[in-house]
Amino acid sequence: MTAVVLGIETSCDETGVGVVRLSGDGAAGTKVTLLADEIASSVDEHVRFGGVVPEVASRAHLQAMVPTVRRALAVAGVAPSDVDAVAVTAGPGLAGALLVGAAAAKAYAAAWDVPLYGVNHLAAHVAVDTLEHGPLPPALALLVSGGHSSLLQVSSLTQPLEPLGATIDDAAGEAFDKVARLLGLGFPGGPFIDNVARAGGDPASIRFPRGLSGPLDPPYDFSFSGLKTAVARHVEALARAGSIVPVADVAAAFQEAVVDVLTAKAIRAATDRGIETLLIGGGVAANSRLRAVAQQRCDAAGVRLRVPRPRLCTDNGAMVAALGAHLLAAGAPASQFEFPADPGLPITTSLVS
Ligand code: KG4
Ligand code: ZN
Repeated sequence: MTAVVLGIETSCDETGVGVVRLSGDGAAGTKVTLLADEIASSVDEHVRFGGVVPEVASRAHLQAMVPTVRRALAVAGVAPSDVDAVAVTAGPGLAGALLVGAAAAKAYAAAWDVPLYGVNHLAAHVAVDTLEHGPLPPALALLVSGGHSSLLQVSSLTQPLEPLGATIDDAAGEAFDKVARLLGLGFPGGPFIDNVARAGGDPASIRFPRGLSGPLDPPYDFSFSGLKTAVARHVEALARAGSIVPVADVAAAFQEAVVDVLTAKAIRAATDRGIETLLIGGGVAANSRLRAVAQQRCDAAGVRLRVPRPRLCTDNGAMVAALGAHLLAAGAPASQFEFPADPGLPITTSLVS
C-alpha cells in the first residue's frame, strides 16, 4: 500500500500542516515518511498577554489555514489529487482553534473526496516519533506539553492509549511558562528557561521540592504547582532582602526539579511494568536537560529511549498526518463528517468515530 496523508493541527497557537507518505503492507512493514511540515505560529500575537489568547489564536488559524496547506503541498511536491486521506486534531485543545482546523479538514476531505480522520492530539504526539525512528514497539509514553503531563501505556498506535498517571494540577509546560514569567523571561517560557539554564545556571544551587515523590504518594502522578510556589517564594524572599535574583541558577534548579521527577517516574513506570521502551513527546520533550537526563537514566535502567527531534516535539501538522497514516494502514474506519471538535477529548479516544 502507498498513500499520501495530509494532517492539520490547530489545537493551540500553531497552524500546522504536515504531509506524509505511507508505504508498506500495513503491518510491521509500514513505513511513514515525512514530506512536508509547515507551521504558521501566532505566538508573537500572544507574547504581550503572557499566554495564548483563544480568540486571537482562532482568527490567526483562519487566516493561515489555506496558505499553510498550499505551502505544505508545494513543499511535499504533491498535487491535491495525490492526497489519499486527511487527518485533523479533533481534541483536546482550545475549542475555537480546534473548530477552525476541523472545519478546514472537512472541507478539504469533501472537496478531494477522501476519508477524514479526526484524531487525538496526544496520540499524535506519540505517533510523530515513527517519522524519525520507525515502527513503535509497545512503549511507555511520557507526554509533557503546555496542557498535559501524562504517563501512558502504548500497546499500538491504533489502539487507545492506557493512562497510568497524570498531573493533578499544572502541566509541566505550564510550570515552565509560569516560572519564566516570574523570572522576567519570554513566552512561551520553556525554551527561555532551557537556554538560560544551559548558558550558566547551577542546577544544584537551590534544592526545590520534588512534587508527589514521597513513598506514600501516587507513583505515576505529577504535581508542579507546589514547585512553582516554592520558586515564587524564593524569588520574593531575595527581592525583600534587596538581593539580585540569580536568574540562571533559579531557572536551572527549577528545571532540574521538573526533569528529576519526570524521568524518575517514567522510568519507574516502565520498569514496574516490564516495558522496554520509553517514548517522550510533547513540547517539553524539546528540553535539552530532560533529553540528557532521560538518556542517562534509561541507559542505567536498561530502557530504550525514543525522543523525536525538538521541532517534532512541539505542536505540528506532521504528527497528525503520521497518526492518520497509521490509522489508514490499519484499516481504521474514517470519522463521520459530523464529528465535533472536542476540547476535552479523553486520551482513551485516539480516533473519533
Ligand atoms: O506540545 P506543545 O507545543 O503544545 C501543547 O500541546 O501544549 O507544548 C508547548 C509547551 C509550552 O509550555 C512550552 O513552554 C514548552 O512546551 N516547551 C518547552 C521547551 N520547548 C517548548 N519546555 C521546556 N523546554 C523546552 N525547550
Ligand atoms: Zn501538543
